[in-house]
Amino acid sequence: MDDYGTKNGNIPLIRLENIGMIYKIGDISYEVLKGINMTIEKGEFVSIMGASGSGKSTLMNILGCLDKPTSGSYFLEGRDVSGLTSDELAEIRNKKIGFVFQGFNLIQRLSILENVMLPLYYAGLHSKDSEKMALSSLKLVDLYDKGNKFPNQISGGEQQRVAIARAIVNDAPIIMADEPTGNLDSVRGADVMKFFKKINEEKGATIILVSHDKNVANYGRRLITVKDGIIISSDTIDAGV
Ligand SMILES: Nc1ncnc2c1ncn2[C@@H]1O[C@H](COP(=O)(O)OP(=O)(O)OP(=O)(O)O)[C@@H](O)[C@H]1O
Ligand SMILES: [Mg+2]
Repeated sequence: MDDYGTKNGNIPLIRLENIGMIYKIGDISYEVLKGINMTIEKGEFVSIMGASGSGKSTLMNILGCLDKPTSGSYFLEGRDVSGLTSDELAEIRNKKIGFVFQGFNLIQRLSILENVMLPLYYAGLHSKDSEKMALSSLKLVDLYDKGNKFPNQISGGEQQRVAIARAIVNDAPIIMADEPTGNLDSVRGADVMKFFKKINEEKGATIILVSHDKNVANYGRRLITVKDGIIISSDTIDAGV
């Protein structure tokens, strides 16, 4: 292992070394992550499970460059990002990471198409191309014909598929999802998971998913289990769904 997180000459997409996270509230410190070591290769579909409060979202926030760890190193494509400024982290997020959260986080006054175009707008793309890119993302989640509707005019499952289209629109190589099916029944949830699988297989996106639902986690190909702020297991999932 050298300074760049390299192992056997290969640079992994993600490498965490001894990541710790301590939250302080007044005089009390809460050690939420206690030395997380993890490697994720490009193209993987990793599911993370663990009890409520075990640190999954805290870990995802660090992986997604939304938060900085208290200690340890985070190498993203070989670059140590643990010491970057908030602006530098924001730039990495815009280029490299698409997010899908439990609440669909769509903007109600924008059309479906405009919602999907938003990351491109933030990246400074205003051309006709961005509409084309958004439409091709919507096509991937089978919502090509819903672009003119508004979020309150489509179902919850469809809203989450729009969120997926928005996450992939700028070709982010990493898609992170924290309980993406948490607000959906099992049928709608399965429908949404099908599309994560599709973007992993067809677009080669690396997917990191948090779910408390084993059926959802089983769409991944590796299962990481977190308990009390440490990783207690990392196993290949045999039969993908
Ligand atoms: N900003 C914060 N300040 C203080 N404590 C926090 C903060 N965020 C999270 N925690 C605490 O850290 C622990 C881990 O929280 P986290 O949100 O990572 O859990 P989780 O595994 O995602 O749980 P859930 O399955 O309920 O979403 C919890 O005990 C939580 O109360
Ligand atoms: Mg959580």
